[in-house]
Amino acid sequence: MKKIARIGVSLPESLLNEFDLIIRTRGYSSRSEAIRDAIRNYISEYKWMEKEDGEIIGVLTIIYDHDIRGVSDAVIDLQHEFGDIITSSMHIHLSKDMCLELVLVRGDMKRIKMLVDKTVSIKGVSNVKLITAFRE
Ligand code: NI
Repeated sequence: MKKIARIGVSLPESLLNEFDLIIRTRGYSSRSEAIRDAIRNYISEYKWMEKEDGEIIGVLTIIYDHDIRGVSDAVIDLQHEFGDIITSSMHIHLSKDMCLELVLVRGDMKRIKMLVDKTVSIKGVSNVKLITAFRE
């Protein structure tokens, strides 16, 4: 039998309400079950970060507020700087002020990590995700 650990988590009530609504819709029998699932997803999503080098192919999703001064230019400048690993990109205007940029990347993991780190640090960028498709 697996050892079970108990943890206590503090989080904003609104976040918990949103979580509860989703798990109810998805049919989870308990919060614990849904949290275990969420943690597993989180781990698999971030596992690529453990990969130190080697070629990968993936999609970088970047959400940012273009009303914040300089953010659009910073996102574009980075794409020019990392032109060697960027295959193509697509820009979607989500709302009056929010933008979504999809960037196809292919190249060395170290270089892609560098691009991700630099993108995350741009002020006005609210969400960055890398979805990878690489051979194990
Ligand atoms: Ni836009």
